[in-house]
Amino acid sequence: MRAVAVSAFGEQPQLMDLPQPEPGPGEVLVRLSAAGVNPIDWKIADGSFGDAMPAVFPLVMGSDGAGEVAAVGTGVRRFTVGDPVFGQFQRVERGGGSYADFAVAAEASLAPAARSVTYATSAALPTAGMTAYNLVEETRVSEGRRVLIVGATGGVGTFATQLAAGRGAEVIATARPAMVELMRNLGAAETVDHTAGPVAERVLADHPDGVDVLIDLISGPAEFSEMTRLVRDGGTAVSTIGSADADDLTEHNLRGFNFVNRPSPQLLEILAGHVDAGRLTVLVGSEVSLEEAPEALTASRTGRARGKTVLAI
Ligand SMILES: NC(=O)c1ccc[n+]([C@@H]2O[C@H](COP(=O)([O-])OP(=O)(O)OC[C@H]3O[C@@H](n4cnc5c(N)ncnc54)[C@H](OP(=O)(O)O)[C@@H]3O)[C@@H](O)[C@H]2O)c1
Repeated sequence: MRAVAVSAFGEQPQLMDLPQPEPGPGEVLVRLSAAGVNPIDWKIADGSFGDAMPAVFPLVMGSDGAGEVAAVGTGVRRFTVGDPVFGQFQRVERGGGSYADFAVAAEASLAPAARSVTYATSAALPTAGMTAYNLVEETRVSEGRRVLIVGATGGVGTFATQLAAGRGAEVIATARPAMVELMRNLGAAETVDHTAGPVAERVLADHPDGVDVLIDLISGPAEFSEMTRLVRDGGTAVSTIGSADADDLTEHNLRGFNFVNRPSPQLLEILAGHVDAGRLTVLVGSEVSLEEAPEALTASRTGRARGKTVLAI
């Protein structure tokens, strides 16, 4: 089968011809129609998690995917051959990932795909969608809260903006001028152009009373610390890239943490339900072929994503 894989951590991803994997007990083999690109894909291939992630090479890249069940291992109860599914496939310890014609996932890493959208749209949902859902849940975003989302125009941010606005929050989203209308359509009450000067200063100028919640997908430790000065006493600040310093937050009477995602099949089902009910728009900014994965990954590294990038398989 075709697969985009690396032969060692730090090597360039390449299109390879690899044996089709087989599902073991409790596992599902999926014939993929699409794979979603996430920054975690190249971070894993770079070896960013070191010894914490023992890997088998060639390592097929990619977590997210959607397609049809091709075979099931013993003990699988929720799926049968032919079911449309989506979910997470990266299994570093087995060398498996979603940038391939076929991939194996644990039954608990999959859910029935949304009925109203294409596989490409479903493949864009798992990692960024579950992250966004858990972020708004864990920061207790609710009616009337003012929430600043830094990095709002990418994969996680476009979902987080919609989910926070859907809970009745007043969302301030970072966005370049070209993305303003789109972010307003996704539910942002306001946007702030992160290319036009320091975000914190500009938000504070318009809102001297600050924000209740900061969801920061971008800032390094120093900028994150600066950004938290916007958060009201007793408010919440979260970083998805490990920039939160517990002591610094406590000193400023803030609740805060470095986010770690907790995926689940229930959460995948909730997201698919939101999509089918028209409550969640999946913004696929770019769709390219599997062969173009290396270029798509290079683009992802620039941090300039507009919504999600999807590989058609
Ligand atoms: N901890 C976890 O469990 C977890 C889970 C999911 C994701 N993450 C991490 O969270 C980060 C975001 O993920 P993602 O999938 O949303 O990334 P993404 O799709 O690549 O989106 C990045 C977005 O950030 C914007 N951006 C870049 N620099 C900015 C700045 N200085 N200020 C404001 N916005 C800026 C970009 O817009 P412009 O091009 O317009 O600047 C782009 O839209 C990644 O590092 C990812 O690895 C962590």
